[in-house]
Amino acid sequence: MIAPARNLLGSLRLPGDKSISHRYALLGGLAHGITHLENFSTGADPASSLACVVALGAKVERDGASITIHGCGNRFQPSEAPLDCGNSGSTMRMLSGLLAGQHGSFTLIGDASLSRRPMERIRKPLEAMGARISLTDGHAPLTIHGAALKAIDYTTPVPSAQVKTAVLFAGLNANGTTTVTESIRTRDHGEIALEAFGVKVTRHLDSVSVAGGQALQGVDTVIPGDISSAAFFLCAAALFPDSGLLLDNLGLNPTRATLLDVLATLGAKTSVLNLEQRGGELAGTVQLVAPKDGLTGATISGALAAQLIDELPVLAAIAPYTLNGIRIRDAKELRVKESDRIALVAENLRRMGAEVMEVEDGMDVPGGQALHGAEIDSGGDHRIAMAFSVAALRAAGESMIHGAESADISFPEFFSLLDQVAVR
Ligand code: S3P
Repeated sequence: MIAPARNLLGSLRLPGDKSISHRYALLGGLAHGITHLENFSTGADPASSLACVVALGAKVERDGASITIHGCGNRFQPSEAPLDCGNSGSTMRMLSGLLAGQHGSFTLIGDASLSRRPMERIRKPLEAMGARISLTDGHAPLTIHGAALKAIDYTTPVPSAQVKTAVLFAGLNANGTTTVTESIRTRDHGEIALEAFGVKVTRHLDSVSVAGGQALQGVDTVIPGDISSAAFFLCAAALFPDSGLLLDNLGLNPTRATLLDVLATLGAKTSVLNLEQRGGELAGTVQLVAPKDGLTGATISGALAAQLIDELPVLAAIAPYTLNGIRIRDAKELRVKESDRIALVAENLRRMGAEVMEVEDGMDVPGGQALHGAEIDSGGDHRIAMAFSVAALRAAGESMIHGAESADISFPEFFSLLDQVAVR
């Protein structure tokens, strides 16, 4: 149950980035030697990646957010039982890349949501490299028959960091140099993680290459806070003119920090202090100052839509409270996330009394609307549950978020931290 708030005040240090945690868990599981990670994501999704590498022979010790992985030394053990990826598309797609060049056959399964998500997008390039992958109607369960791989030049048909990373991961075990080209640059945590594990990666503006036969060597690093989790607090604070929010150790990788640009377009200023680089990833302290006269409005399309893909639900959820509204286009990928996020955002905005126009690849949410509390259907999707908790802070009356526990997928601390900083 979310009650309205007057503003947000406080300072927070958020758990580690989900995308980065997955990559370090998977690469650490395969690497030679020991990987030690601090501030590992507390979400259930990266825990699925850890569980999979354990099933494949890695040894993992966990003490809260502190993780030690004893890697398999470049050779995963066969797993009799299917590898359970839970709700995590990242685990299923990126692990497939690592398994494509291993000996033996591996079956990957997931929950009902993951079993509806498109996997053809990794089957195509990994089969072109020589692996064999069977799917059920384009979906998981997915069985990979590993093979001696050959390198490919691959252009991703839809912008997807998961697909790019899967192909680069497979390229590690391929004969020759694998290149992935993308028309819109997606998050580069895969490239950065490979470099951290000692792999030479060649980067151009729109492509990235990795030569096969390079060994992974364990790393020791601190994972920056998750900016996609921070997005809920930044957007919530931006709604109230007298909010004051400070986020410490926040990941600010330029391929992930587009939200700060959009907040600036909307009139909310962020300043960054103590910027530093750790293992190739930027992190800093972010302070948000909300605009005195309310947020303006924005159009999010093209490359911006791809770069903000995980932040679009919360931006759409606060759009009615802006002056001019938010228009989203070129975001068709939202329909194949943990839920159909376009349909579910539109549905929940309507439940709160908002007007919204849904189109195939986005939506128009007019500004200047007052919302009322409502029963929200998260559809079991973590980002929908959190986005509408934010919308509920400025609604008249309380809102009930059904399936609120789905926040555990990426951000189990979300509700307790929200209570800590929301002033009622
Ligand atoms: C992710 C990439 C994005 C994003 C997901 C995490 C990653 O998915 O939505 O939450 O870690 O690479 P796509 O690669 O499907 O765009």
